[in-house]
Amino acid sequence: MTKGQAKDAGSTQVAAGKDRVVIFDTTLRDGEQCPGATMTLDEKLQVADVLDAMGVDIIEAGFPIASNGDFEAVSLIAERVKNATVAGLARAGNKDIDRCAEAVRKARRPRIHTFISTSPVHMKWKLQMEPAQVYEMVVASVSRARNHVEDVEWSCEDGTRTEHDFLCRCVEAAIKAGATTINIPDTVGYTAPEEYGALFKMVRERVPNSDKAVFSVHCHDDLGMAVANSLAGISGGARQVECTVNGIGERAGNAALEEVVMALRTRGDIFPYDTGIDASMLTRASKLVSAVTSFPVQYNKAIVGRNAFAHESGIHQDGMLKHTQTYEIMTPESVGVSKTSLVMGKHSGRNAFRDKLKQLGYALADNQLEDAFVRFKELADRKKHVYDEDIEALVDEKLATAEDRIKVLSLLVIAGTMGPQVATLTLDMDGEHRTVQATGNGPVDATFNAIHALVPHEAQLELYQVHAVTEGTDAQAEVSVHLGVDGKSFSGRAAHPDTMVASAKAYLAALNKLAARQDRVHAHSAEEVA
Ligand code: KIV
Ligand code: ZN
Repeated sequence: MTKGQAKDAGSTQVAAGKDRVVIFDTTLRDGEQCPGATMTLDEKLQVADVLDAMGVDIIEAGFPIASNGDFEAVSLIAERVKNATVAGLARAGNKDIDRCAEAVRKARRPRIHTFISTSPVHMKWKLQMEPAQVYEMVVASVSRARNHVEDVEWSCEDGTRTEHDFLCRCVEAAIKAGATTINIPDTVGYTAPEEYGALFKMVRERVPNSDKAVFSVHCHDDLGMAVANSLAGISGGARQVECTVNGIGERAGNAALEEVVMALRTRGDIFPYDTGIDASMLTRASKLVSAVTSFPVQYNKAIVGRNAFAHESGIHQDGMLKHTQTYEIMTPESVGVSKTSLVMGKHSGRNAFRDKLKQLGYALADNQLEDAFVRFKELADRKKHVYDEDIEALVDEKLATAEDRIKVLSLLVIAGTMGPQVATLTLDMDGEHRTVQATGNGPVDATFNAIHALVPHEAQLELYQVHAVTEGTDAQAEVSVHLGVDGKSFSGRAAHPDTMVASAKAYLAALNKLAARQDRVHAHSAEEVA
């Protein structure tokens, strides 16, 4: 495989000889504890199911002592999760640890995650404890947790601002007391990649029993470096990453799970590590977490943002049409997005426009394409989003007027107080002249009934609007008509000093567009069959 080449969707398997990085998801704990992200019990269960199905190794389901709701959520998740280890968070006190043990009791693989602050600022101001007291609590809390479960994680809160000697002493004591995972969090998002990577190297080298535990990264995004720091921690020897879907979490959030997973996968050349994550579920997980928390996903968010696989610049679209690897380092399918989208806008070029028309079923001659492209550019200059429907309308309008199959030849309407109103209409229909007389509830109704009698159709009248183009009683009437069928809308517009004539012409303009589209769809499907 060449450098920067996208891997295919199936390459998440652990490759022989590669180190495994364990994914610890804390969307339901660190993620849920951020302002506004509260989830109901049912929502937490849905998220846990998706995380488990996606291959997350450890789901931190909540903080059981925090509330009865949290306790219940952790207990129920512990009971239902099939594959992942289920962890609960506990401070260093006995009550916290016992409550947490009770909550994770029914998990196939229960974990207690206990923590205490070790930095000078936290010990002095938050805990108001001396380092020696903190040290004692590390030993006591880990030992107590270990009496409940075999799998105990210990975190030194504010680890990146902790003095190295004290940090190493605490880590050694925690491992001696039975901790199987040691997490060194960058609680306040303060560290930088080089420093964080070096911290893990230092601790692993200096702590004599460091080989008895798995080291873990836990990064916050206050300086926008959470993912970069997490990856640097892995390079420094950590083999567990704590992260959240969409990067939700305290303040600026945690490292985003989808970014960590795809960075490891896409840059396997510099990060030779595998995860057990089925990356094709990343988009689904992101959408679920966004929906249940009501936290929108930033449009340009890496991996799961709606623009992550969208290209608008003409140069990029041209490159993409020639070879997707020109501008994509991952395939959209590999993260669960069905396809790349070439967003049509003012930066799009001719090639992308031609390709879009082809997708929409148009086969235009070169001069027609050129004409449509000019009108598309004019529209894109005026309109922020140019949707497929806009392009269809733009082309259909031109095709319809060039090839109008039905035209008004004459119209006579009798109106007034002595109803019913009567319309006598003659149409040119593909060269054949046909006349009908119809009545209606008013002159417009009579005219439209006459059209319906000559051109039977399923479309519903969605809009009928008249406005005077100029002032005065001789003003041109401009009429707009929208006809809807099968969820699509066809618009027609016409102007005439006689409002009834303008109405008939506008209605027929919409019908002509509808007919042009139906012809095009039939021709396209006949081509596909052939
Ligand atoms: O950020 C942090 O330090 C934490 C700990 C509880 C692990 O979330
Ligand atoms: Zn945190």
